[in-house]
Amino acid sequence: GTVILAYSGGLDTSCILVWLMEQDYDVIAYMANIGQDEDFEAARKKAQCLGAKKVFIEDLRTEFVEDFILPAVQANAVYEDRYLLGTALARPCIAKRQIEIARREGAEYVAHGATGKGNDQIRFELAFYALYPEVKVIAPWRVPEFYNRFRGRTDLMEYAQKHGIPVPVTPKAPWSMDANLMHISYESGILENPKNHAPTDLYQMTKNPEDTPSSPDVLELEFKNGVPVKVVSVKQGISKDSPLDIFLFLNEIGGKHGVGRIDIVENRFIGMKSRGIYETPGGTILLEAHLDIETFTMDKEVRRIKQGLGIKFSELVYNGFWYSPEFDFVRHCIAKSQENIEGKVQLSVFKGQVYILGRESPKSLYNEELVSMDVQGDYDPCDASGFIRINAVRLKEHQRLQGLSSNK
Ligand code: ARG
Ligand code: SIN
Repeated sequence: GTVILAYSGGLDTSCILVWLMEQDYDVIAYMANIGQDEDFEAARKKAQCLGAKKVFIEDLRTEFVEDFILPAVQANAVYEDRYLLGTALARPCIAKRQIEIARREGAEYVAHGATGKGNDQIRFELAFYALYPEVKVIAPWRVPEFYNRFRGRTDLMEYAQKHGIPVPVTPKAPWSMDANLMHISYESGILENPKNHAPTDLYQMTKNPEDTPSSPDVLELEFKNGVPVKVVSVKQGISKDSPLDIFLFLNEIGGKHGVGRIDIVENRFIGMKSRGIYETPGGTILLEAHLDIETFTMDKEVRRIKQGLGIKFSELVYNGFWYSPEFDFVRHCIAKSQENIEGKVQLSVFKGQVYILGRESPKSLYNEELVSMDVQGDYDPCDASGFIRINAVRLKEHQRLQGLSSNK
């Protein structure tokens, strides 16, 4: 049969490609360009040389930003209070095109190179089954004949040498990386000991805040429907207005000032904790700006409900349920909450931080007259006395029950 392999161009998936051919599959290699730094044409040649029947290189960057990152911005999506989900958001995007290719090419099988201990296998495969229910999945790192043969990197190198797979010349970094235009993640290897500090030369998207410029960049970010529609840097005279260009520009500014680095221990879906290091420069700026314009324009009680939905959104994305009925429902509600989220946020980016400077919006719920100490208007301060006394009823009862109301 024919198998569509999610191919990265690296040693692992190159060995997988050849191994699948050894098992008599016709292999079609598929590479998703989601903004990682990669020589795609070199990878195409490599896959062809190894015997791939066809090679598809798909530029998914616009789709990744518009259909996956922007909904996460609307949701203020953050997993376990810190992780902005850069890898988790990319997986359903990659899987979607892989399935489109499988259907178009009449392939019965899809394959990926994710390990058997991680989240990625779950994310890929839940998306595969949701979008192509009859598909057959090959996950070599869960196939005993495969993983018993490739017990370590030396086994892969040996196999590569034997089968004419170009062996990487630069020594491998002692950790694993996953890169796309939203973030780079680093885990495993020397990072597995949670006590070990990340080496300073690990980060690739962001400068060390100790070495960043001594003056800030000031930006104005404009939102409509809860998504950025324009970014202006007055100082540099730069303005961007497509989602991809906006995002790339925010990455550049955030990277230059060392924004969006985190080092965390997180809970994987499969039940183990893992240590991960992430850098998400543009995503971090967008999160801060969106939180600001949202609070400015959204009703207080709607916001509280929506905040809970954002947590649900993040868990579903992390666990791989992008294509699920519950996720459709959550997304629909969040989209509804964003109808009036518009306006401009001015902010500065400096020394690893995003500082909000001001905001304005035609949909603002902020009433300067109402809140002003100098204006009376419709609001009668005497009403506040009753409001406070009524709220105190419960608190007084609580004290009485605790037997602590000693002074009457
Ligand atoms: N722990 C992060 C997540 O689950 C990053 C995973 C990185 N994946 C990888 N293949 N290196 O989203
Ligand atoms: C992997 O297992 O391929 C990477 C880690 C993860 O998916 O969580």
